[in-house]
Amino acid sequence: MKKNILTKKSNIENIEEIASFLCDIVKDGDLIIMKGNLGFGKTTFVRIFAKVLKSEDIVSSPSFTLINEYDIILNGEETILRHVDLYRLSSKEELDNIGFKDKIKENGITMIEWGDKFESYFDKPYYELEIEMTEENSRLYRINLIS
Ligand SMILES: Nc1ncnc2c1ncn2[C@@H]1O[C@H](COP(=O)(O)OP(=O)(O)O)[C@@H](O)[C@H]1O
Ligand SMILES: [Mg+2]
Repeated sequence: MKKNILTKKSNIENIEEIASFLCDIVKDGDLIIMKGNLGFGKTTFVRIFAKVLKSEDIVSSPSFTLINEYDIILNGEETILRHVDLYRLSSKEELDNIGFKDKIKENGITMIEWGDKFESYFDKPYYELEIEMTEENSRLYRINLIS
């Protein structure tokens, strides 16, 4: 089941509002799958989300590293934000080979760019963040709960 919990348009200056909304609803251990084409703003969103979660780490695209981890503070507790990019991955088996499922079951919030490539791989419930490019200078964000 898919339940829409936020639909909002934002330019680059106001992404923080959407990131704060997400920050208020997630719990440690949650998974967020990001949908949106190349250049739509997935990495940018993670960067701002990490900032809202008081991270001082540099957020860059994990397309080569596969997983980047940032120290964050969620509800007053130290934890990590696991930033994943599956763009280069070609099969679910590669995820199994690195023990991905166990990794994301540990503490921390996991955000996955191109996670929708292997949607059926992930256990529900999880959040889905869809980004659509409506105009050059703004994006439409949708947060859905998939259960
Ligand atoms: N809400 C937004 N409004 C306008 N431009 C944005 C927005 N979000 C991201 N961008 C711009 O989109 C470009 C691509 O962003 P990036 O986060 O690298 O995309 P992706 O990770 O989806 O490939 C960047 O130049 C970024 O500044
Ligand atoms: Mg990216």
